[in-house]
Amino acid sequence: MTGGTALTGRVRVTGAKNSSLKLMAAALLATGRTVVDEVPDILDVSIMSEVLRRLGCGVEYERTPASGGGGRVTIDVPEDPSTETDYDLVRKMRASISVLGPLVARCGSARVALPGGDAIGSRGLDMHISGLERLGATIVSEHGYLVATAPRLSGTSIWLDFPSVGATENLVMAAVLADGTTVIDNAAREPEIVDICSMLIAMGARIDGAGTSTITVEGVESLSPVTYTAVPDRIVAGTWAIGAVMTRGDVVVERAVAEHLSVALDKLTDAGATVEVLPGGLRVAMSERPRGVDVVTLPFPGFPTDLQPMAVALAAVSTGTALITENVFEGRFMFANELVRLGADVRIDGHHAVVRGRERLSSAPVVATDIRAGAGLVLAGLVSDGITEVQEVHHVDRGYPDFVEQLRGLGADVKRTSRPG
Ligand code: UD1
Repeated sequence: MTGGTALTGRVRVTGAKNSSLKLMAAALLATGRTVVDEVPDILDVSIMSEVLRRLGCGVEYERTPASGGGGRVTIDVPEDPSTETDYDLVRKMRASISVLGPLVARCGSARVALPGGDAIGSRGLDMHISGLERLGATIVSEHGYLVATAPRLSGTSIWLDFPSVGATENLVMAAVLADGTTVIDNAAREPEIVDICSMLIAMGARIDGAGTSTITVEGVESLSPVTYTAVPDRIVAGTWAIGAVMTRGDVVVERAVAEHLSVALDKLTDAGATVEVLPGGLRVAMSERPRGVDVVTLPFPGFPTDLQPMAVALAAVSTGTALITENVFEGRFMFANELVRLGADVRIDGHHAVVRGRERLSSAPVVATDIRAGAGLVLAGLVSDGITEVQEVHHVDRGYPDFVEQLRGLGADVKRTSRPG
């Protein structure tokens, strides 16, 4: 891409990747046809579709025109799904682990390969495992697989050491079909957790407290399939908002939900941006060079770790010095070395990054190391002099539908030089 153009115009965000993948996994809890709308047309959704197909489900994806890269996924779940998820798929995407809870709850057993996914930290599974064990499952790890068995799960109380998004989701999906009541304390409060609980409630589950630190689940005998719409993607929306500020542009992000981005939008206001909440979205505009603002990532409602690379990129072109602190994934500053190749002044010390802003960055070939790092580097390329090439851009395809097309729609001078996927 060639830097120097301000992002201006309108962009529509579709459903959240981090919700859609789990909504698809939740479909396993009910025999019959589940339909999910606003599912982004991204690589990770194709991988989850393949995970479900290998479990015996019929999965179809159909694009919705003019949706900003979203579509409808139809999942036909058989009476007796298979219970094994292969290494080749789970390795490609850590979120495949979210079939573990539904499979154990529904089928009494599951054999799920240990996941791979992004290189952003150790990303253990201890809370998923110990929570399922408390619900009565026996879990062993053998030959690269987690093997879980439980003829019937029983309600219990679970205290999470950390409000893990994936563990909260897996445990809720297991508890909905357990005998009796489960209480999950120190649960994650992300909008995606609320979304999955809403879908489960529509399927017949009894869940209280979604969006708070204590979720109570009363097990039911069975669930029914539903048609459901995924919550808008707050990380994609936040990426556009930060892009508008960095490039000193003016962008309306259709369907963005301001309450899902409160801290991030406050930071942009502190940086000098105009943030306007509209009936169906948000407008973010910036006319001068942003001021550097400190950012600390935390579980929701804190600043999202998934927007941290964009926050570093923003600080790299802001006035003054900003301190960015990463509290969720220890490996997440790896991408900063790539940003330094674009001339950014970033120093890392443990989980802190000190960023001294520069007026402009300077183009260079850089490599995306994960989805969000890739998006952060693309934003940095938009404010670099000359032509920036972001390699390994397939990472970005895992999370952003039609990214290049949407950037062009906002006026960016960008093109794809490798095939999607
Ligand atoms: C999800 C999101 C990811 C986001 C993250 C935090 C999906 C597909 N991905 O990832 O985009 O960045 O939430 O908002 O939804 N941990 C353990 N043991 C566990 C579970 C987690 O140590 O059993 C640690 C992880 O290593 C990490 C932290 O807890 O350091 C947070 O992880 P978690 O909230 O579980 O993130 P994910 O669900 O993997």
